[in-house]
Formats: sequence, structure tokens, C-alpha cells
Amino acid sequence: MKEKIKVLLDEIRSLSVTRLEEVESLRIKYLSKKGEVSVLFNEFRDVLNEEKREVGQLLNELKTEAQDKINSLKEQLSNASVNTEKFDLTRTAEPVRLGTRHPLSLVKNEIIDIFSRIGFSIAEGPEIEDDWHVFGALNFPPEHPARDMQDTFFIEKNPDIVLRTHTSSVQTRVMSKQKPPIRMLFPGRVYRNEAISYRAHCFFHQVEGLYIDKDVSFADLKQALMYFAKEMFGESTEIRLRPSYFPFTEPSAEMDISCNLCGGKGCPFCKHTGWVEILGCGMVDPNVLENCGIDSKIYSGYAFGMGVERITNLKYQVKDLRMFSENDVRFLEQFKAAY
Ligand code: PHE
Repeated sequence: MKEKIKVLLDEIRSLSVTRLEEVESLRIKYLSKKGEVSVLFNEFRDVLNEEKREVGQLLNELKTEAQDKINSLKEQLSNASVNTEKFDLTRTAEPVRLGTRHPLSLVKNEIIDIFSRIGFSIAEGPEIEDDWHVFGALNFPPEHPARDMQDTFFIEKNPDIVLRTHTSSVQTRVMSKQKPPIRMLFPGRVYRNEAISYRAHCFFHQVEGLYIDKDVSFADLKQALMYFAKEMFGESTEIRLRPSYFPFTEPSAEMDISCNLCGGKGCPFCKHTGWVEILGCGMVDPNVLENCGIDSKIYSGYAFGMGVERITNLKYQVKDLRMFSENDVRFLEQFKAAY
């Protein structure tokens, strides 16, 4: 009996097939009711009592191995049929649709390129930030509305961890680590708790600029921004600065450019004013410098922050902000600029 089991086992181990139907006939040959394995099970009755234990075990092993072998043969063949029957490897390849750069990346790269020509380098920071870097160090008073759940996405409370609401958080990180002179741009994604519509989204992109050195003045800020506006929107572009307020700059201003659609004459886009707002800016508040370990008696600096979506809208007249995040290639393919 033991000898028979061994012979059968060797036979089953060496089985090989080329077609699926053969597997089925092997299954019948060995495992069906009258199959060879089942026959041995019937003969088990005649095995001597003292051998039953050992032979029983061998029989069971034989059966499992036979089943496994049949299953694996079946699997091999069905995989092989996928490879050989469904794919015609001689067919010519289908054309691959090439992607294009996202309009927001194009505009971001253009902003970076313009400022890099006057000595700005780049730094990035985390999108998940602590209260200190987004608000505290930037001179936001404890009761400021931006610290409210209505305006800001909180990830944790006490200690507060938020999705950054502006790229000014990278200012505080860089100033805390680096000694002036600092002349840097901070591009990145920011988040605000806004209802999504054609003109607002819960995330958007900013590019922040920071220049800290001895004797940096408001005139330097204005000159850098005027250079930027003309490079970005054309030589005839005019700028104007309106007084404004940010906790982290003093004085603060918002900058408008002459409407690039009507050339400043007035149109629906600029609400017939001839001007469109593009960024916030100002002289870095001495409190912010001190918070970041920079001596405000020796150093001064300016900062500005602009929305990439806003600049892109002005350049390409995209009317609905949501288009930027819908990933519709028909929309995205329209932007084929140099950047
Ligand atoms: N962080 C400001 C905002 O998000 C923009 C800004 C940056 C203003 C730097 C002044 C200086 O609106």
C-alpha cells in the first residue's frame, strides 16, 4: 500500500499539460469517485490495524497534493491564455495623449522667474502648520477672526494645528532659521474655510515674497512690485498702492494694476474702475522680526503675497475658479506657454 501511494505521488508530481481540457481529464483520472486516489482510499479498509495511522496520513497527503496540483495546472493555463489570446503584441501602439503643464504651474513658474532675475531664491514650508508659525509669530492677536473655525481648517485644537491659511507661515520659519540678508519667495498651496463657488475655493495658491536687510525701505518694495507688474502684464501696466491692514506688516498696502483688459478705461471686469487688485504687501512689522529672533533696530524688510489663481485669471480670463481643480484636459490643454 505504501509503495502504491509513493508511485502515485511521483506520477502526480510530474504531471504537465498544455490545454485546459486535459486538466479536467486528469481530475477525473485521479480524484473522481472511481479515480485512482479514491480507489486507494477504498483499499484502506484492508490495511493492518497497526499501520492504519501511518497509511491514513500518507493517503490524506496524497489527496491534498493531487488537488493542489490540479488547481495549479488550471491556474497556469488560464493565466497563459490571457497573455496569448487577449493581447496581440504585434499591433501598432495607440497614440499616447501628451499632458500639458497646469496653468497655475505656468503662472507660478513665471512669477518665480521674474523675481529670480532680481535675486530672489525659493523656500517651501509645510501645509500643516502650528498656530505660532501661521498666526502667533505674525502678530495676530489671540481673538483675531482668522483664528476662528469659520475661517480656518483646524486639524487639532490645544495645541492648535491648522492647514495654513497663507504662505506667510514660511516667512516665520525662514526668518527663525536664517540670518539676514534674506531675499526669498515662498510659493505654495493654502487653505481657507470658504464655500466653493466660481470665485472662491477652499484651497488656492500663493506666492509670498520677503526681503530683509539693513535699510530696506518702502520705496524698494514699490520698485520691486512695479518691475513685477510690468514684466508680468506688459510695459504699459501701471500700479497703485492703497493703504490697508495686515497684522504682520506696518505700514500695509494692497496693490492694484491698471486693468489689462480695457487698459484702464473701465470695463465690466474691473467693475468700471480701471483697476484690479492683485496683492497685499507692506513693511515687516518689527514685532514679527523680534518674534523670529531678528534685531529690528538693525534690520528692516518688506513682504508681499499674491494669489496665483488671481494672476492667472487676469492673464487668461478664466471666469470660474473651479476649472483649475477639475482636471478637465480640454481646459488644461489650452495653456501652452513658455513656462
Ligand atoms: N498673507 C496675506 C494674505 O494671505 C498677504 C500678504 C503677504 C500681505 C505679505 C502682506 C505681506 O492675504
